[in-house]
Order: sequence, then C-alpha cells, then structure tokens
Amino acid sequence: MARQRVVQRKQTVAADEPHPHFPVTDSAVVPTPFDSNDREIDEALRPTSLSQVVGQSKVVERIRVMLDATMKRGDTLGHLLLDGPPGIGKTTLATVIPRELGVDIQICAGPAMQAPKDLLPYLTNATERSVLFIDEVHRLPAAVEEFLYPAMEDFRVDIALGDGLNARTINMQLKPFTVIGATTRAGMLTAPMRDRFVYREHLDFYEELDLVEIVTRNAVKLRTTVTDEAAEEIARRSQGTPRKANNLLLRTRDFATLGHPTGEITTEIARNALDKLEIDRLGLERQDRRYLETIIRVFNGGPAGLRAMAHSMSVPPDTLEDDVEPFLLRSGLIQRTPRGRVVTEAAYEHLGLTSPSDSTGPGTLF
Ligand SMILES: Nc1ncnc2c1ncn2[C@@H]1O[C@H](COP(=O)(O)OP(=O)(O)O)[C@@H](O)[C@H]1O
Ligand SMILES: [Mg+2]
Repeated sequence: MARQRVVQRKQTVAADEPHPHFPVTDSAVVPTPFDSNDREIDEALRPTSLSQVVGQSKVVERIRVMLDATMKRGDTLGHLLLDGPPGIGKTTLATVIPRELGVDIQICAGPAMQAPKDLLPYLTNATERSVLFIDEVHRLPAAVEEFLYPAMEDFRVDIALGDGLNARTINMQLKPFTVIGATTRAGMLTAPMRDRFVYREHLDFYEELDLVEIVTRNAVKLRTTVTDEAAEEIARRSQGTPRKANNLLLRTRDFATLGHPTGEITTEIARNALDKLEIDRLGLERQDRRYLETIIRVFNGGPAGLRAMAHSMSVPPDTLEDDVEPFLLRSGLIQRTPRGRVVTEAAYEHLGLTSPSDSTGPGTLF
C-alpha cells in the first residue's frame, strides 16, 4: 500500500463527529446510544483501502475508474463531492482515495473555516496532487467559498492586501491538488460550488447483507465472535448505516462479555442487548420514536414544520434534518410535503396506534 502522510490541524475536528473534549450535548435531551466515542471507533474500524470498502458497488466501481485513469495519465484527480446521510462512508472514501493514489491528505471542516485566512494554509501547504478533504462543505461561509473557487479552478489564490487607495491583490500560484468535499445536504450547496466538482457521488443507505459483512469483519478486528444470526440481527436494526452497525456491535459486545462464558455474541444476547438499548425491530431509536409521537400527539399527525418540531422536541432542527428524518423518510414512516412533515399509516402501525383515518372503518371505498 502506498505511503501516506496525514496532516491534521487542530481545528479540523469534523462537526458531525463530536470533539473529544467538547462532546456535543445539545441534541441529547433524549440520549441516543451513540456518543462521543464515535470518533475513535470510526478511526479504529475504518477501511484503509478501496478493496475493504463494503457495498456501494456502483460508486466504488466508478471511483476505481477515476483513480485508475488519473494514475495512468499521471494527472491530478478531479475535484470530488460525496454526499449522503451521516455515518454512511463519506470520510472513509475520502481518506481511502489519497491512500490509493499514494498522495498526502489534509483534513478540514467547513464550519471551522470562518474566513479565507483559515483556509489559506491548507491551500498553500497542499503538495502536488494531494487531497484536501473538506467535511461539511455546505457550511463554508460565502467569503471562504469564493476564495476557494480560483483555487479549485486555476490552482491560484487572490489575496487582498490593505484597503482603500492602498488596496491591492496578490495572486499566488498553488500546486495542483484535489478537493474532496463531503456533505449531508447536497441541496444546501450553492450552484457555483457544486459546479466546481467534476465528480459527484451520492452514498445511499446500505443493504442488510452489506451491513452483515461489515459487522462480521469488524467483529474480527475487535477480536470478538458473533454468530451469523446475531450479525443479521444487528445489521437489520442499524438503519442501513455502517456507523450505527459498528456502534451496535460494540454495545452488544459489552453484553456478551458479561453474559457469555467466551464473550460470543449470540442471537439471544444480541436481541436482549438491542432491546435494552431500546432499538426496535425497524432499528428506530428513542429519539426516532419520539419524533413520530410528537407529530402524532402534538400536531395530529401533521403537517408539522421542521422548526415547530424542533421546538416541541427541544432538539436542534439540523439534528432532526440530518440524523432523524432521512431514515424515517426512507422507511416510509414520514413524508415531506410543502406544508411540513406528515406521518404515514405505517408509522401509526409501527407504534401500535390507530390512525384517525381508521375510524371510518372498512368498505368506505364503495
Ligand atoms: N463502505 C463501508 N465499508 C466498511 N465500513 C464502512 C463503510 N462505510 C462506513 N464504514 C464504517 O462506518 C464508519 C463511519 O463511516 P464514515 O466514513 O465516518 O461516515 P461519514 O463520513 O459518511 O459520516 C467508518 O469508520 C467505518 O468503520
Ligand atoms: Mg464524516
């Protein structure tokens, strides 16, 4: 495998991954089973080459072509945008790509880049053909975004010096490099920013079989054993998300350590652990169920606006939009309408509640 230098600066903690010393607590009114250890777990279990990346076969295949063609030409890889819900493999792909290319990577996060001067050192330090990974690229302030455009397009920055009559601009040439941007909200990216990415890939929720493979492989990395059926149970309740699968594996391992003579994660232990963690058979966590119950009880099933929901639940709207809603939408438990979110029949059914439309009884169609 190619040698790689990882340059990571102080302020580069990705905002979707709580800072080790300042865990994000504002979304923790209802504690989720996932906490600030996520970051370390991510690092320990992250694939280190493209061949270790499980699932997303179409995306991986296209990335393989990008990389092979780039290497064959001896070129710099075109800028790449990765979008998809949290925990789905964006950082993983962004760190695997420079390894495959044998180039350096620098890592920064959109919200930490408050002014062009914050981004400047990353640009000037970029070595030839290296990768600059910008996490949460949709949260770059407008001024930083504009500063980045000529850097992406012509590998040049325009630095403004002084003001008024003395104002002048210095152009500085940069080494050719690649921006890999990650975002949970491709829709929030400005059009000029989006257009500067030659390649765009969307990562979707994983199939259960892929998650089973991730759980099984990671059990080996963690030197623990998990039965096939237990791996399936964990995978099924992971909301199609590898990070959640990893977390559930770790949580069930604790139960196995205490509840099994050799620490094996058996089906019974896994089921029992998942029930104790209040993860239901669809993989919904307490916060997810509370979301559905809030629409039903406070908003009569909807439509409910995002802000009103956030207010009722005392959870930041971003948390709802990024962490809670994508899976509920994908499972058909809620719908987004122009007037707000509404719950579906399936949500009433899942929660064991009767939906108001049931009261008309059967046969009303005729
Ligand atoms: N395709 C994959 N194959 C194997 N493991 C994966 C894959 N995608 C994600 N993971 C696991 O999930 C964790 C979280 O993924 P990450 O790339 O950090 O998600 P994101 O950046 O999209 O929030 C990784 O550390 C890794 O262990
Ligand atoms: Mg990430």
